[in-house]
Amino acid sequence: MYNVAILTVSDRGARGEREDAGGPAIMMAIEADNRFRVVATGMVPDEVDEIGAFLLRWCDDHIPLILTTGGTGMSPRDVTPEATAAVIERPAPGFAEAMRQESRAITPHAMLSRAVAGIRGQSLIVNLPGSVKAAKECLAVILPALPHALDKLAGDPSECGRS
Ligand code: MTE
Repeated sequence: MYNVAILTVSDRGARGEREDAGGPAIMMAIEADNRFRVVATGMVPDEVDEIGAFLLRWCDDHIPLILTTGGTGMSPRDVTPEATAAVIERPAPGFAEAMRQESRAITPHAMLSRAVAGIRGQSLIVNLPGSVKAAKECLAVILPALPHALDKLAGDPSECGRS
């Protein structure tokens, strides 16, 4: 089983003005794949320091996969990519590239996504969009590659096959 943490980034959610729909939706979607187990969740406003604090704590806890939802667009308050970029040590751009590429077939608004992904220590952090629909669509894009990514991140020395 791969442990997963999910961070919802939302000013209104953190103020209690909006129920967190994205976090639970991602949890259900990823746990439907029986290889993943959500072990931590959080909710923060769109503030670089608060987002970063959660990411750092979960990386220190060696949670292999950290998903964020929200704050990846172009609104003035959207800073999740900046907060993520500040903590990652090694970029892993393929995840965000794939999400944007596949999502463009669904909506041209996929181009607004500034999501990033990268590695800190033994953790892979991936930004997902904030809406339930968009988050589930993007998770479905990256899910097939996650187990191999997390195995490699954990030091799996086997040679990569063609699958
Ligand atoms: N990706 C998919 N697959 N489906 C979507 O509906 N919406 C886009 C984009 N990516 C979308 C998507 C929109 S409208 C925005 S503004 C950005 O994700 C960023 O979303 P966020 O600010 O909620 O994180």
